[in-house]
Amino acid sequence: MKYSRIIGTGGYLPEKIVTNDDLSKSLETNDEWIRTRTGIGQRCIAAPEQSTSDLALIASQRALASAGLAPNDIDLIVVATTTPDMVFPSTACILQEKLGITNNGAAFDVQAVCSGYIFALATADRMVASGMAKNALVVGAETMTRILDWNDRGTCVLFGDGAGALVLQASETPGILSTHLHSDGRHRHILSVPGQIRDGRIEGSPFIHMDGGAVFRFAVRVLAESTEEALKHNGLQLADIDWLVPHQANSRIMDATAKKLGVPPEKVISTVAGQANTSAASVPLAMDHGVRNGCFKPGQLLALTAVGGGFAWGASLVRW
Ligand code: UT7
Repeated sequence: MKYSRIIGTGGYLPEKIVTNDDLSKSLETNDEWIRTRTGIGQRCIAAPEQSTSDLALIASQRALASAGLAPNDIDLIVVATTTPDMVFPSTACILQEKLGITNNGAAFDVQAVCSGYIFALATADRMVASGMAKNALVVGAETMTRILDWNDRGTCVLFGDGAGALVLQASETPGILSTHLHSDGRHRHILSVPGQIRDGRIEGSPFIHMDGGAVFRFAVRVLAESTEEALKHNGLQLADIDWLVPHQANSRIMDATAKKLGVPPEKVISTVAGQANTSAASVPLAMDHGVRNGCFKPGQLLALTAVGGGFAWGASLVRW
């Protein structure tokens, strides 16, 4: 087998919804500001007893059901998360146990913040295509609202919780065509949670800190660049893109990226209004949204692209 193909998708959003109007009751903000700057209307918040792996579990069960596979058919789990259940073990190992998998397949986490899903997909794709695994569960799961300072209106309005999962299977026919990954640690300070666990204490802030303007400019540039790089690698043109599935950071970033690439708005999957930015979960949630709404047709070309803290970014082309 030379390739991996996506054979199932699943998503999960926590039940509790917090609207922009809800936020404006305790914060100096308003629905109009948040909508015009970000396109976000509401976000979902995990219940106190729900951990990232619980969100991942429901998304994974739905993805397995859509793929027609049982948990023990999965011999690789890669979880992209910035908000793991704990320092260790990995959320992927916790998920493996919660799914009831006993086959000793590999399970590990990937950390590349909002671009994490593209990194996880690249890892799983190459492992499946090379024969290291047959059926991979690739999950993006986050409880971002746990690392927000609810008094910082510049960041807390932007994020939400959720999980998405894809099942990849080894295949003779191309599914994932290629993935292109990049990082530049020189920009690590414009988006970070600087706090560290040290000697039994948290030293430094445990909340998201961000230079919004710098992140915005960087994101638009690299989302478009990496998508173009992926097209060029496969001898394809911008006009060949049937669907752009970008990281759902905010609608202005997605609109600007689509405009740069010349992709019309009706070819862009957008879930940000109802989910906000779910970091590593946003791309698989957007993929699941596209599948459930009957957007993707066999043979169509999907361009997935994401960017996040690190800075890290990348793009992947998928033949549906
Ligand atoms: O996965 C990547 C995650 N990060 C992102 O996606 C963020 C990328 N950056 C952005 O999307 C934008 O930079 C923001 C939406 C975060 C901010 O938009 P902006 O147009 O860059 O606004 P700004 O930061 O320049 O702030 C403009 C004004 C400021 O007030 P003054 O100084 O002009 O009086 C802010 O204090 O808007 C104020 N402001 C708010 N007002 C109402 C900042 N946040 C809010 C808010 N509600 N939530």
